[in-house]
Amino acid sequence: MGNRAPSYPLFSERRSALAVNARIAPDVSPRLREIVTAVVEHLHAAVKQIEPTHEEWLAAIRFLTETGHMCDEWRQEFILLSDVLGVSMLVDAINHRRPGSATENTILGPFFVAGTPVLEHGANLCLDGKGEPLLVRARVVDTDGQPVANAVVDVWQANDDGFYDVQQTGIQPRGNLRGKFVTDAGGAFWFRSIKPRHYPIPNDGPVGKLLASLGRSPNRAAHIHFIIDAAGHEPVITHVFTPDCPYLAEDAVFGVKKSLIGDFERVADAASAAKPGVDSPHWLLEPTFVLQNNVR
Ligand code: BEZ
Ligand code: FE
Repeated sequence: MGNRAPSYPLFSERRSALAVNARIAPDVSPRLREIVTAVVEHLHAAVKQIEPTHEEWLAAIRFLTETGHMCDEWRQEFILLSDVLGVSMLVDAINHRRPGSATENTILGPFFVAGTPVLEHGANLCLDGKGEPLLVRARVVDTDGQPVANAVVDVWQANDDGFYDVQQTGIQPRGNLRGKFVTDAGGAFWFRSIKPRHYPIPNDGPVGKLLASLGRSPNRAAHIHFIIDAAGHEPVITHVFTPDCPYLAEDAVFGVKKSLIGDFERVADAASAAKPGVDSPHWLLEPTFVLQNNVR
């Protein structure tokens, strides 16, 4: 007898996922098997719950096609879809389980630019002169409260019109509201900037249309982005949010965590603006970032 064709279960509505998953070859990597099996099981369960018409299924395919067409080197509409569905934050939470005392992670977002130059402490990140002045005096410590010297801190935020510099090349000065700092021996760094405002995520594509059709806000709660990287510690990708932003509870990408809402103090007297170049009045933010010592 020659080789017998393998026998697989025939497809039926009831056993649909089983029929698909049974065809995965025996020598496939266990992780790939686990992933594909789970995706097929959950996808089939959703289709069985939804019972889409052919038109609805085609609309879903069209939505995904448009999402793909929207992607290029600068625009990643699939990541945006993952963001607004809460999947980016879920993947982040699964991969960054930390002790309660350590600063929590949140979403990176599409507007981080690698290679930002290191600036002197006290530099003003605001190059377009718009917005309410903010003084940030920050510290980086470890989970034992010890200062972390030589931590490299990337900072970026949108301008007062709600756009990042890379969204408005030729309109905003290059590098507007971006900087990199290195902490001193006491784990400190400081800079000047502006109080952040809420802004909409890019919403001129299929993801924006989806949010509108769901009656959801496209706005991100007002925030400043930070990445803190120090030898011997787990890096942190995080934000500090303003406490008075009306979108804290409906951030479009679910990035808000209670521990990340900062204390922005209004400083009105000229004497408190002790450092040279600090405007009066200004806002003052004094965050402490806590890094977990490397467990590896
Ligand atoms: C941001 O904060 O820059 C951002 C995050 C997720 C999607 C869009 C923007
Ligand atoms: Fe942002």
